[in-house]
Amino acid sequence: MQFTNTLSFSDSVHCFRSGQPFNTEAVVLTTDHAGPESPRCFSVAEQGRELIIRRDLKPGDQVFGMGQSMGGLNKRGRQFRTWCSDDPCHTPEKESLYGAHPFLIVDGDDTFGLFIDFPGELFFDLGYTTTDLLEIRIPSLDVDIYEFVATDKKATDKKTIVRDFRKLIGKPYVPPRWGFGYQQCRWSYPDAARIDEIIAGFRDNDIPCDTVYMDIDYMVNFKDFSIDEQKFPRFENWVQEKKEQGIRLIPIIDAGVRIEDGYKVYEEGLEKGYFCKDAQGELFRAAVWPGLCAFPDFLKPETRQWWGLQYQALTDLGIEGFWNDMNEPALFYSPASLSKAIDAVSAAKDKNIGVYEFFDLKDSIMNISNSREDYRSFYHEPAPGGRVNHEQVHNLYGTNMTRAAYEGFAQVDADKRFLMFSRASSVGAHRYGGIWFGDNHSWWEHLKLNLQMLPGANFCGFLYSGADIGGFGANASAELVVRWTQLAVFSPLMRNHAAMGTRDQEPFAFDGHSMAIMREHIKLRYRMIPYLYSEYMKAVESGDALFYPLAFEYDDERSKRVEDQLLVGRSLMNAPVYEQNARGRHVFLPEDMLLWKVSRHDLMAATVIKAGDHYLELPLEEMPVFIRKDGMLPLTETTSWVDERQPETLDVMVYLDQGARYELIYDDGISKAWEKGVSDCLSLSVQQGSAGLKVSAEVTKGQVPWKTIVFHVYRHDGSLIRQSVQI
Ligand code: GLC
Repeated sequence: MQFTNTLSFSDSVHCFRSGQPFNTEAVVLTTDHAGPESPRCFSVAEQGRELIIRRDLKPGDQVFGMGQSMGGLNKRGRQFRTWCSDDPCHTPEKESLYGAHPFLIVDGDDTFGLFIDFPGELFFDLGYTTTDLLEIRIPSLDVDIYEFVATDKKATDKKTIVRDFRKLIGKPYVPPRWGFGYQQCRWSYPDAARIDEIIAGFRDNDIPCDTVYMDIDYMVNFKDFSIDEQKFPRFENWVQEKKEQGIRLIPIIDAGVRIEDGYKVYEEGLEKGYFCKDAQGELFRAAVWPGLCAFPDFLKPETRQWWGLQYQALTDLGIEGFWNDMNEPALFYSPASLSKAIDAVSAAKDKNIGVYEFFDLKDSIMNISNSREDYRSFYHEPAPGGRVNHEQVHNLYGTNMTRAAYEGFAQVDADKRFLMFSRASSVGAHRYGGIWFGDNHSWWEHLKLNLQMLPGANFCGFLYSGADIGGFGANASAELVVRWTQLAVFSPLMRNHAAMGTRDQEPFAFDGHSMAIMREHIKLRYRMIPYLYSEYMKAVESGDALFYPLAFEYDDERSKRVEDQLLVGRSLMNAPVYEQNARGRHVFLPEDMLLWKVSRHDLMAATVIKAGDHYLELPLEEMPVFIRKDGMLPLTETTSWVDERQPETLDVMVYLDQGARYELIYDDGISKAWEKGVSDCLSLSVQQGSAGLKVSAEVTKGQVPWKTIVFHVYRHDGSLIRQSVQI
């Protein structure tokens, strides 16, 4: 295979170019160093108009990554496709979800990373067809293939690969700090009065909350950037009143623009040529929630510029965050696909059709949404005069919608962070917003899936990510929502959301006991925000994931196979309960750790657990937080919302081994000063001196709110020493 060009970003990161790839803008790093002739860890072969990547797999090899996708942490033995899909049924066999994230790491004797920079569909066979063969099919000869070679032969090699990849694709989006607070959503809270009741539910029950969402019903006929004033009278004042109660309202924005005469967004977009067109140059039309819609051509810079400024209609009214949805884009049907299906049905009318014909007929209706035919029938204009078929660049659509929003926000206020996350994404979208994992279900399996999806999303820079707590589709039990809330304590995006027609699942929607447990865990979350935020900001700079499988840290064979525990930042390990009626679980500890079984977050009683396998009793009230050797967990005071007041006291849980140090990164939480390297730092240290413990807390950069630091220092023998420092 002859590459047209090869580039070296370092000794271990190389790019192999074939043909003339479409510029996805996933990669931001540039180099002019020529690279090696061919990849070291896999082969690339031309097969007709396609490229095939191959690599033999040894029995012990594992495969990590694939971004937001089904399957466990180790993806070996499965097939995937990168194709942003509006599919609300995340059953185990699904090969693609909303994000297209073709980055993986093969871990074995010869560990390496692989990223395929390509805007369309790719096919991954990770030892599925042939158990000892990894094969990737690229349906094009125009592509950039990146190889990341490991050097140290250690578990942590994989972290180096993640960091190298992230260096290539740029720094992740940083939300405002209030985006780390608890968030409540539902499709849909029908009006302002219901949202007021929901807010009262939180405040009256002393459950912290920072945001409530407005799903599609806040709009007039689902028209983006409109507000139904019948349901939401005095909108601007109301938004302001809610803010005074510590609640920010987050409206949804969908990709499809309703076709309606007199609707400004539609008319302006049409007049300026900002929408996608079909082969004849006519407006492409398909139906989503608003009925027949036009679809902004987000690949066209002028469209992005225009679209980004539309958000101002709401930011002018005090809105500070949004979620972008239906941006794969979802297409319920097009006039063409609908009439084809209707024709098929009419043709069968009054006929005695055979059973196979019946199944075909049924499929012609069932498969009407998001059809390939529809995706093939419209075009983008990424550059003047240049036209590209949507199918070729499908995976870039959602990313460019989110990019438009991000760039629009910068025009509204260049120095302010807005909340933004999207459903569809591709590699590179992490620079503009976070992602949520879409329409999961209130299934225990999806609680575990949530855990397993986090690292893959993180590797691609989606640090601000999370799944709908309690599950979106189907009815949730109180127990499921309790356990899910416990898991979500660790996830930067902590949002409970439920579909239309399902049972209420706010923390106060069940019995008093369940509510009390959730209250404790949401309060714990608020106490943990300094840690999560600090680890987030460090991961933004270093290129690390917030969540790593144990296999990325520990070299022993046992750690490599752990599928249901994650490391969370430098100090913690998470091992949630994810099974119905379970009152405990097995955990594996690769080293001694401090176990804090949290039932009441203000009782900081922890025990040392030795390395090895354990069964832990974990009643519904309890969630395990493991603190690693020399790890520190700073805990601030709990508040009803993130910015309610300046906290005075910071508790720090410490598991002392050789000597513990922690840099707590802080900043104003709202400006973009962090981009210029402006942050605050509190340096915490606990050392064992000959005359006893030496603890120190020093503000080494900027300023922090806390005045008193209380160290809770646990040692190997389980003994606890508490010591305070004033700063
Ligand atoms: C989609 C979204 C979901 C939202 C619904 C209605 O299914 O994924 O979160 O609630 O649309 O807007």
